[in-house]
Amino acid sequence: PPVSLIGAPTDVGAGDRGARLGPDALRIAGLGEALEARGVEVLDRGNLEGPRNPWQPPVEGYRHLEQVVAWNRAVMDAMADELRQQRMPILLGGDHCLGLGSITAVARHCRETGQKLRVLWLDAHADFNTHQVTPSGNVHGMPVACLCGLGPRELTHLSGESPAMDAADIRQIGIRSVDQGEKRLVKEYGIDIYDMRYIDEVGMKRVMEEALEGVDDNTHLHVSFDVDFLDPSVAPGVGTTVPGGPNYREAQLVMEMIADTGRMRSLDIMELNPVIDSRNMTAEIAVDLVESLFGKSTLMRD
Ligand code: ARG
Ligand code: MN
Ligand code: MN
Ligand code: MN
Repeated sequence: PPVSLIGAPTDVGAGDRGARLGPDALRIAGLGEALEARGVEVLDRGNLEGPRNPWQPPVEGYRHLEQVVAWNRAVMDAMADELRQQRMPILLGGDHCLGLGSITAVARHCRETGQKLRVLWLDAHADFNTHQVTPSGNVHGMPVACLCGLGPRELTHLSGESPAMDAADIRQIGIRSVDQGEKRLVKEYGIDIYDMRYIDEVGMKRVMEEALEGVDDNTHLHVSFDVDFLDPSVAPGVGTTVPGGPNYREAQLVMEMIADTGRMRSLDIMELNPVIDSRNMTAEIAVDLVESLFGKSTLMRD
């Protein structure tokens, strides 16, 4: 399907400022042109608007809850519009709290069209905190919990229904930082996590085969790509780096195996922070990986 780029220039959910510049960094790295070179029809819808980042400490365990809600509503509505027009939305973050609005729209679209949902959450973090267990109050550490119905009502009921998504529909890959209380919650909710130890032991190929198992012709595959999924040596331009992530080759394989399914229908590219990047290298790596997501490969003809 044709692609729509949607910029969400905010860092209201993050612990550092700068992810608000992510959408333009991706554009400058040539994301749109790279997709067009793949033969994809691309429309850049420009940037969404929302409240500024008030940069305040947490209140009752949340930082900027009101602004986070407003941004997620805008993202949900924009994603839903594109899906309704049979287009493939690509959300340019922005911090990962917006994965909530994005996937809420995607899950609702799947219910309305009778499709199966599979979410691949590529991340160093599980993003399954609550206001009680969060070490930071940053809502970018909470979107998966909110999607599964755990969190403040304004976020869990973004589309009216809760849970927005079935916990059994998500696979998390690359995980290597889960906070104390968060560990108990992911276990309780049965989140399917492929952590770095498992990736090291069985290899990325088998991990991806398992994570994609059951994806069929009626599956809507959503990829939520937190750029901190990547090892910081290849992707330094993110606020919450964690050492020991997938290297460039492993990440390429992830993207290629997703492309092989032919089922990706929506994508988030999140947490890119050009302020702490080095000459936009992280945005350029992200664009390289997206090319693979859209089927670029060394030997296959286009
Ligand atoms: N677990 C940490 C927290 O809750 C970090 C979360 C980082 N999340 C992200 N999307 N980068 O604050
Ligand atoms: Mn569809
Ligand atoms: Mn992360
Ligand atoms: Mn994340």
